[in-house]
Amino acid sequence: MKKTTALALALLIAFPVSSALAGPSRGQALAANCAPCHGTDGRSLGTTPVLAGASRGDFVQRMQEFRAGTRASTVMRRHAKGYTDEEIVQLADYFSALQR
Ligand code: HEC
Repeated sequence: MKKTTALALALLIAFPVSSALAGPSRGQALAANCAPCHGTDGRSLGTTPVLAGASRGDFVQRMQEFRAGTRASTVMRRHAKGYTDEEIVQLADYFSALQR
């Protein structure tokens, strides 16, 4: 094996070029908090609403209404309060991009 090839291989092993380097998007990281109730990637299997493929605008509006207490909710009001406008948009970007 040539020296340069060996070096290239060593670099590849030390610094793998993968999507893992970029890490999950902020929206995806935040969405982990929703999975216990809304299912992995918002694909709920129970009675909790499916979030995957939600309309971005509706999603943002609902989250803001939950937070403001103007939308009827059992748990989402308390939950939505933990998120800023920016985080709600990041979550909306993430869930609306997923296939239902
Ligand atoms: C403890 C369980 C629980 C968790 C955790 C949770 N949700 Fe919910 N979610 C619900 C329930 C139950 C509803 C139905 C409304 C209600 O009763 O509050 C709901 C409704 C919603 C809705 C309205 C959907 C529709 O079609 O009307 C949105 C949007 C939503 N949740 C987003 C989120 C996001 C984003 C997260 C994570 C940041 C999250 N939820 C975490 C239980 C949960």
